[in-house]
Amino acid sequence: MATRVLLTGGAGYIGSHTYVALCEAGYECIVLDNFSNAAHGVPDVLEKITGAPVQLVEGDVLDRGCLDHIFHAHHIDAVIHFAALKSVGESIANPLAYMQCNIGGLVTLMQAMKAAGVYHLVFSSSASVYGNPEALPVPETAPLSYASPYGYTKLACEQIIAQAGAADPKWAVGVLRYFNPVGAHPSGLIGEDPKDVPNNLMPYIAKVAAGELPQLSVFGNDYPTQDGTGVRDYIHVCDLAAGHVLSLKSLLEENAGHLVNLGTGQGYSVLELLDAYSKACGRDLPYQIVERRPGDPAASFADPQRARDVLGFQASHSLDEMCASSWHWINTGAQKPG
Ligand code: UD1
Repeated sequence: MATRVLLTGGAGYIGSHTYVALCEAGYECIVLDNFSNAAHGVPDVLEKITGAPVQLVEGDVLDRGCLDHIFHAHHIDAVIHFAALKSVGESIANPLAYMQCNIGGLVTLMQAMKAAGVYHLVFSSSASVYGNPEALPVPETAPLSYASPYGYTKLACEQIIAQAGAADPKWAVGVLRYFNPVGAHPSGLIGEDPKDVPNNLMPYIAKVAAGELPQLSVFGNDYPTQDGTGVRDYIHVCDLAAGHVLSLKSLLEENAGHLVNLGTGQGYSVLELLDAYSKACGRDLPYQIVERRPGDPAASFADPQRARDVLGFQASHSLDEMCASSWHWINTGAQKPG
């Protein structure tokens, strides 16, 4: 019998790409999503890509009854928990919503898992737990902090996982600290499609390239970096998805948890990304330099060694491939899941 995995937030950007990678690796998946930040058409598109029907539950991770029902109705071997809110700005304006969804969601899920005797969990954490990194590249042992309520919730969730694990050794949790996921599936059928004006760099540039936004505002060009603009570790979402498959495999085989960075180890500046995207879409994209965005570190990129050692993970897509796949997704807009 195939290993069955519950994906909370499985219709979202990273969840949907991981769904495809898991199906390709022979896992059986059940998607739980409340569609607060995912299009209702995504499951149909996943069916098209994988050639198999999607098992979908429309519901919320905060709904304990819904979770209990899923664990009761299906034998679940493991859970990958993507479902969370992720906008830094929104979290500053409405911190309690972030505490409730991100922290409350994890606690509710772990309680339901414990009641059902399911102890294998992959958790979506973030490089935001490093705050403003003191040394680069950033190893998992770097000091932890946060610069927003969003970052706080990710750090708190990691600590909750550690305390639950200390109290009950049956837990085997893979904590994955994502750097900056970008790009889209090669089919061009799934990708990142923010409902409002994007906060993150690549989706913003994509909208400029598509002519939906007039120009990019570059947040500061006086950082101590190669060209003065912010430097980040952009990782292709399909590499990130592959990292989840490896994490899950390791949890199930080793029956022990891990905590790793998922990045490439390579930092690119805002202007380097803009250049690469201009190449992908075939025209120079307009930009203006504006003030720094408060709370932004100058540079952040991963030390990817532990993920390589523990999971055998290595990102393989180049920056050009990340931009080309994003542009391909934007260009197939007519088929976008509605
Ligand atoms: C942001 C969040 C981080 C979160 C991640 C994924 C902040 C401070 N950090 O990471 O906690 O985990 O998104 O959702 O918001 N930039 C521009 N113009 C833009 C947008 C971005 O110049 O319109 C620059 C930023 O200053 C930064 C780089 O592009 O140097 C990347 O920004 P972004 O894509 O928002 O990612 P992070 O800030 O790394």
